[in-house]
Amino acid sequence: METTRQIKIFDTTLRDGEQSPGCSMNLGEKLEVAMQLEKMKVDVIEAGFAIASPGDFNAVKEIAKIVKNATVASLARALPKDIDRAYEAVKYAENPRIHTFIATSDIHMKYKLKSTEEEVLAQAVAMVKRAKGYCNDVEFSAEDASRSRTEFLYRIFEAVIKAGATVINVPDTVGYTTPDEYYRLIKGIKENVANIHRAEISVHCHNDLGMAVANTLAAAAAGATQLECTINGIGERAGNAALEEIVMGINTRKDLYGMYTNIDTGQIYAASRLTSKVTGMKVQHNKAIVGENAFAHESGIHQHGMLANKSTYEIMTPESIGLSKNQLVLGKHSGSHALEDRLKELGYEISKEKLNEVFKEFKILADRKKVIYDRDLEALVQDQKQNF
Ligand code: KIV
Ligand code: ZN
Repeated sequence: METTRQIKIFDTTLRDGEQSPGCSMNLGEKLEVAMQLEKMKVDVIEAGFAIASPGDFNAVKEIAKIVKNATVASLARALPKDIDRAYEAVKYAENPRIHTFIATSDIHMKYKLKSTEEEVLAQAVAMVKRAKGYCNDVEFSAEDASRSRTEFLYRIFEAVIKAGATVINVPDTVGYTTPDEYYRLIKGIKENVANIHRAEISVHCHNDLGMAVANTLAAAAAGATQLECTINGIGERAGNAALEEIVMGINTRKDLYGMYTNIDTGQIYAASRLTSKVTGMKVQHNKAIVGENAFAHESGIHQHGMLANKSTYEIMTPESIGLSKNQLVLGKHSGSHALEDRLKELGYEISKEKLNEVFKEFKILADRKKVIYDRDLEALVQDQKQNF
């Protein structure tokens, strides 16, 4: 399939990501992350929730001042004081955006807002108009959209677009939807909301059922053009859709999706390390794309294949995310080809006969130790050196 459709990446590491317990960042750390996001060429940086605290306000303002290419957004509830504060912070940006939201599901309207559909609709329209008085770029999110009445969603989106919203966002706030259901929801919005062509359709998925990335990609296939996500998938509860997984999914399956992003994928690994460092949130070893084991191969069969041709067991290269090379991890499942290869890298050229001897010792050691490091190999070779 031809790659024709551009997908925008909206990063909310500094807002929704920061909302994950224990992940708050100080100003210097936020600025560092913002610069890395800019370097990675994300389209939109949600820098924070300006009204949340003086610190958050300041961070949004300082990020707005230093970011030159990406749009800088601040979140705001659909309340006048939030909208005003958001603009006070983002007004320094080259491309400012106010992102306002209100809940649209029966459950949220009844228990949290204590409002009717008509009241919520009127409030959303009024606040989009207020934001529009400040800047042209206004995003409206229907919080808990995936559990909202579809007919009401169509109505509210139609009304906010008429009021000037440039982006309408369809959050799966509680990570409740599934790929096929979310696909149908986005298709329905595309087909039933009047003047939908005037606005960008955005999606924002949480990972409570482990489907945030799958849901996001299904929505993109249905016509969403802005995908909201965070580095390493950090965020409220089980987190948000992970930027690196979405982007590499789109890139690796161009044949399937026919889409592309602006992202410089060579900056992904650096962004992941930086986010982990500043939030203190470790990346699980088997995490897709950026986990320590994502490009590591231990079994002998896989290692043999990799040494013959990397495409046997790798669907993307480590270099494509900014890692220097894949890792053949030596352990009890490894074969003699991988051992020979690593010994060569360490400067040991040995005969087949000697290799077999070292390999026997290696397997005995590997039964005791989970991973064999270079220093272990060197010790093994040194032990046998007189025989070489
Ligand atoms: O999850 C959510 O609904 C949100 C909105 C505020 C966009 O984070
Ligand atoms: Zn969210």
